Amino acid sequence: MAKCVLVTGGTGYIGSHTTVELLEAGYEVVIVDNLSNSERFVLKGIRKITGKRVPFHKVDCRDLTRLGHVFARYKFDAVIHFAASKAVGESVEQPLLYYRNNLDSLMNILTLMRAHQVPNLVFSSSCTVYGQAEKLPVSEQTPRREATSPYGNTKHMCEDIIRDSVAAYPEIASIALRYFNPIGAHPSAEIGELPRGVPNNLIPFVTQTAAGIRPVLSVFGDDYNTPDGSCIRDYINVVDLAKAHVVAVKRMTEGKMKARFEIFNIGTGRGVSTLEVVRTFEKVNNLKLNYKIVGRRAGDIEAVWADPTFANEELGWKAEKSLDETLRSAWKWQQHLDGKQ
Ligand code: NAD
Ligand code: WQD
Repeated sequence: MAKCVLVTGGTGYIGSHTTVELLEAGYEVVIVDNLSNSERFVLKGIRKITGKRVPFHKVDCRDLTRLGHVFARYKFDAVIHFAASKAVGESVEQPLLYYRNNLDSLMNILTLMRAHQVPNLVFSSSCTVYGQAEKLPVSEQTPRREATSPYGNTKHMCEDIIRDSVAAYPEIASIALRYFNPIGAHPSAEIGELPRGVPNNLIPFVTQTAAGIRPVLSVFGDDYNTPDGSCIRDYINVVDLAKAHVVAVKRMTEGKMKARFEIFNIGTGRGVSTLEVVRTFEKVNNLKLNYKIVGRRAGDIEAVWADPTFANEELGWKAEKSLDETLRSAWKWQQHLDGKQ
């Protein structure tokens, strides 16, 4: 019988791509999302790609009772918990919203997993837990740094909540995936990132500038201690990232875990500068991007990229898609969106 996975935040950016990869790998998926940062039409995109209709429940993970009804209705083999608020700047302005949403949602999930005998949790963590590391690239052994934003702190605290829960409750186990910078879109351009308002992240700002929605891209700083002076990140294709979740679910449901709480870096292992992203985007999409160098953005770290060896060797997962292909997919998705608007 096909295994069934609850995907919270499944209409969101990473959740929708993961849903597609799960369906294509033969899993059944049920989505829970409160649509606070996504749209119902994403479900249509998922259906167009996979030919499958996914059961969807508009439920807030903070609502233990309604979330409990979903757990009672299905027999889940695993949960992938994406649902969270993720805007760093907003989290500084509204810390309680972030602590409430990200911590309560996770605690409700863990409570219901125990109550309904769902043993396996994949959790969305982030490279934000490393802050500016002293040594690059960062491995899972690199010490976590004190978070620089309430958002980052929620990821740090969620990892601790999971670690303590798994230690206390033998009936549950978890894999936390620390994502680096997910970018790009499904090659079909049926799903992708849907920023609301002015994008905070680099790639949606780049594609909206190329589309003429934004007049100019600001590159935040060219005076960092990096080869071209701009910041360095590890940009991971969202489909590659989605596949890491499928591998993690498989590892858990097949009883292959070596510890009951495992943590993996999910990145390419390659650091790329902001200016390199801009130039590559121009080259692969054959266009000119209007950009200017401005001052540093408060809170930005200079450089971070992953050592993904543990995921490569232990999960058997590796990022496969090139930056060229990924930036082509981002532009194709932007054009698809423009066509719809
Ligand atoms: P997203 O905002 O596109 O997706 C999150 C989804 O969760 C949205 O559809 C939103 O409506 C939903 N949601 C939020 N709170 C909810 C709640 N209380 N109940 C039900 N649904 C709720 O974000 P994303 O980029 O897909 O991120 C998914 C996860 O990955 C998040 O936990 C995020 O913190 C983490 N993450 C993202 C990045 C990134 O750069 N995108 C990097 C590292 C980690
Ligand atoms: C990337 C680079 C900017 C916009 C954030 C969160 C982090 C994680 C991933 C969830 C930086 C530069 C950006 C622009 C620019 N999310 N930039 N002009 O800051 O690495 O990480 O998303 O866990 O927690 O902090 O991603 O896409 O915002 O920026 O020059 O208009 O692009 O300075 O160097 P970041 P980003």
